[in-house]
Amino acid sequence: MRKVSVVGAGKYGSLTAMRLAESDIVDQVVMTDIVEGLPQGLALDMNQARPVENYSTMVLGTNDYADTAGSEVVVITAGLARKPGMSRMDLLEVNAKIVKGVTESILEYSPDATLVVVTNPLDHMTTLAFEVSGLPSNKVIGQAGILDSSRFVHFISEKLGVPISEVKAMTLGSHGETMVPVPSQCSVSGKPLTEVLSQADIDELVDRTRAGGAEIVGLLKTGSAYFAPSSAAAAMVKAIITDSKEIMPVCAMTAGEYGIEGVYLGVPARLGAKGIEEVVELNLTDAEKSLLVEAADAVKAKVDELHTITFD
Ligand code: NAI
Ligand code: 2OP
Repeated sequence: MRKVSVVGAGKYGSLTAMRLAESDIVDQVVMTDIVEGLPQGLALDMNQARPVENYSTMVLGTNDYADTAGSEVVVITAGLARKPGMSRMDLLEVNAKIVKGVTESILEYSPDATLVVVTNPLDHMTTLAFEVSGLPSNKVIGQAGILDSSRFVHFISEKLGVPISEVKAMTLGSHGETMVPVPSQCSVSGKPLTEVLSQADIDELVDRTRAGGAEIVGLLKTGSAYFAPSSAAAAMVKAIITDSKEIMPVCAMTAGEYGIEGVYLGVPARLGAKGIEEVVELNLTDAEKSLLVEAADAVKAKVDELHTITFD
């Protein structure tokens, strides 16, 4: 039986589970949470949509990690989300304790799983899951770049009034202030972004993309975005389960690519059955490469802070 699991049945986790079930690529999606009844109730509701949506995958809601045993991929969404005025970094200590415990529980039952981390602050929680799990780095991946790139594509398409299928855009770096949109890799209907938009317009869209999560948190007042984020996490799981070998911007461990060594950071990577099959080196401009190095330095500094947390 092919199985994937999602830890955390909140907004992000439940919608990810539903998107994965609807894509019908595994037999079972297990969804677990510490709140009793929550994953069970949501799973029941999702399963009752199967006749209308016409898919076979069953969702199992549970509070018991034993039910996740044998998962090929596990998505970690457990943790607190931001409130207005909070940065993703404000979540560091509380979510670190949750992610550490969750990672240990998953590994007990699925020692060969590939982990897709989404809990914020993303780059740091991915680093922590890697360190706690003892898994090879190709099997621990963070989700942020697909979401940030998708936001960037949306803003460009909206600004120019062109179909999203004609816009190619990518963001790298960290999920936060040091996000690195890379205009050199962006095009609209085959033309470089810099030919179809002024520098001022590009800067405005880059700023809006960088603050994309905060804009939604500010509007919602409670909780953060989950429609586009869950699409992004589900896309990663699908690429791994179907061994698609697609290149996606994800949070991956660097091993000298772009001159960066040993840091989890948003980089383009090929995803397949092995998780990260390869970190791909694109032809970035010198300015973009420097921003990526700055982003890596910022992540490293916060990872040092993460290492000072006392776990009971
Ligand atoms: P939410 O509050 O709706 O759901 C979180 C769930 O985690 C709750 O149901 C809670 O009971 C559960 N949980 C807490 N501790 C747990 C534990 N020890 N074991 C199992 N479950 C536990 O929050 P939402 O919107 O689902 O967001 C989840 C996380 O994803 C947040 O940290 C948020 O900042 C992050 N996020 C990351 C994004 C990214 O691009 N990487 C985008 C959007 C959100
Ligand atoms: C987002 O970017 C809050 O990280 C979350 O929507």
